[in-house]
Amino acid sequence: MNFRGKEHLVWSLNNYLGLANHPEVREADAKGAEEFGLAYPMGARMMSGNSSHHEALEQELAEFTGFEDAFLLNYGYQGMVSIIDTLVDRNDVIVYDAESHACIIDGVRLHMGKRFVYQHNDIDSCRKQLERATKLVEQTGGAILVITEGVFGMSGAQGKLKELVDLKNEFKFRLLIDDAHGFGTMGKTGAGTHEEQDVIDGIDVYFGTFAKSMAGIGAFVASKQEIVNFLRYNMRSQTFAKALPMPMVIGLRKRLELLRNRPELREKLWQIATALQNGLRERGFDLGVTNTMVTPVFLKGELHEATAITMDLRENYGIFCSIVVYPVIPKGLMELRIIPTAAHSLEDVQRTLDAFSEVQEKLKSGYYKEAKAMPV
Ligand SMILES: Cc1ncc(COP(=O)(O)O)c(C=O)c1O
Repeated sequence: MNFRGKEHLVWSLNNYLGLANHPEVREADAKGAEEFGLAYPMGARMMSGNSSHHEALEQELAEFTGFEDAFLLNYGYQGMVSIIDTLVDRNDVIVYDAESHACIIDGVRLHMGKRFVYQHNDIDSCRKQLERATKLVEQTGGAILVITEGVFGMSGAQGKLKELVDLKNEFKFRLLIDDAHGFGTMGKTGAGTHEEQDVIDGIDVYFGTFAKSMAGIGAFVASKQEIVNFLRYNMRSQTFAKALPMPMVIGLRKRLELLRNRPELREKLWQIATALQNGLRERGFDLGVTNTMVTPVFLKGELHEATAITMDLRENYGIFCSIVVYPVIPKGLMELRIIPTAAHSLEDVQRTLDAFSEVQEKLKSGYYKEAKAMPV
């Protein structure tokens, strides 16, 4: 990345498979724009905004992720808010993971019925909330929707999909998965975390975004045909909004084709992620509970030290990464959130490991507490 005129090694891009600058993707994006411009379609899908490309992409996504049908969403965030809003009514109860992404929280906020939150990835806690929810729906005549993520984007932990699906033996509920990070990266074919954990049949509604492994924009929801059709004609974020532009849809079809047919892209992502995580762990870094490619590096320190470290890395080592601090994580901790991609090299990994070791030493010595550590 070019930042203020200088080249930087960047670990902060949503580009897991390195598709952003893939020549075939660039060509497909450009051809789509050349043929249609950026204006088309000029209406919502239900009105004038449908096209054979939109429908084909939906079929391709459904086939790839293992569901009967899929529906395109203009944005992941709004899409998820609207999926939740559409699926439940005031008699239904939502049970959701405490560390859910903002789009899930905001979807839950729209819900007019009861909602119960369970402790993050804690199946016993989820069971307790399901007991409460079951009692409640016996009175209201509604149903229960459980929501979690396939891969939690901040910690890198996989959602416990297998255990949640097993709870269906004890309780009656439907399961909605936000697999923003898992789609394209997890599982034997990259279909997602449901494939990784071999629970495709237990997932009722699956959500993936194009903004991470596909380096595009937009998202999709996949499920049984009846449910997708219901969403297609009832989701407010889609019914009352212009459809995804033609060049994006055409470019997304190319991205999906590469994602499906070039397993070496996913293999490269995992090679980089494994080398990075092994190297960091060998050097004593705390990576928390990640069991995916998402690589959080937890350091002890205060907010101003976090700022100084990011600047030191950026200005003196040419490495750009994002830092997460309180209130997203507990006070006294900072998290350098690293996103490995197939576009990185093993040399990039080595350079980063060396820089992180030096920064760790400086942090321990109190260097970043001093104002002189601020390079700008
Ligand atoms: C778990 C999760 N869900 C949904 C989204 C929103 O996706 P989009 O960027 O496509 O709006 C994100 C992106 O940060 C995410 O991490």
